[in-house]
Amino acid sequence: SGAEVAALVASRVVDVPDFPKPGILFKDLMPLFADGPVFREVIDGIVAHYGAGSFDVVAGVEARGFVLAAAIAYATGKGVVPIRKAGKLPRDTFAASYALEYGEATLEVHRDAFIAGHRVLVVDDVLATGGTAGAALDLVEQAGGTVAGFTVVMELGFLEGRARLSPRTVHALLTV
Ligand code: PRP
Repeated sequence: SGAEVAALVASRVVDVPDFPKPGILFKDLMPLFADGPVFREVIDGIVAHYGAGSFDVVAGVEARGFVLAAAIAYATGKGVVPIRKAGKLPRDTFAASYALEYGEATLEVHRDAFIAGHRVLVVDDVLATGGTAGAALDLVEQAGGTVAGFTVVMELGFLEGRARLSPRTVHALLTV
C-alpha cells in the first residue's frame, strides 16, 4: 500500500547534516536505491500511481532522477529523456535557470528531446523548494511537450514546492 511504501522510504532515508552547504540537511535516498527489493517497491509504487496510459515518455532530472526515470521507463515500456545540469548535453539545448535551496543552477534539455504534444512524466528523488521541478516544467514546455505530472520519492512539504507547480499533479511516495 501507499502507507507501507511511505514507511519504507521514511525508515531508509539517511539525513546528512551540512551537505552540500552548512545548514542544509541533505536527504540521501541512495541507500534505498541500493537495496533491490526496496528499489523495486519504490518503482512499483510510482508506476501504480501514474499508469503507463497517463504519459508518453519519462524525463529524469540529474542526477538521482536518472536512476528512477530509467526504471520507470523500462517498467512501462516508455523512453527516457535526461534533463541535465548546464553544459553536459552535446547538442542544441533549451535552458532554464532557478534558485536552489542552496545557490543557483541552470538545467538544460535537448531541443529535439520530445515529440510535439507528448505527455512527459517528470521524475526526481526529492521535491524541496520546487525550483528544480519548475525549471524542468519550463524545459518540457519549451521543447514542445506537456507535463503529465511530477513524481518524487520524497517531498519536503514545509518548503511548499508543490504550490510552484500548480495546477500540475505532484505525486510523492513520502511527504515530510
Ligand atoms: C536535489 C534533488 C532535487 C533538488 C530538489 O538535487 O535531487 O533535484 O535538489 O530541490 P529543489 O526542489 O529545492 O529544487 P541537487 O541540486 O542536489 O543535484 P544533484 O541531483 O545533481 O546532486
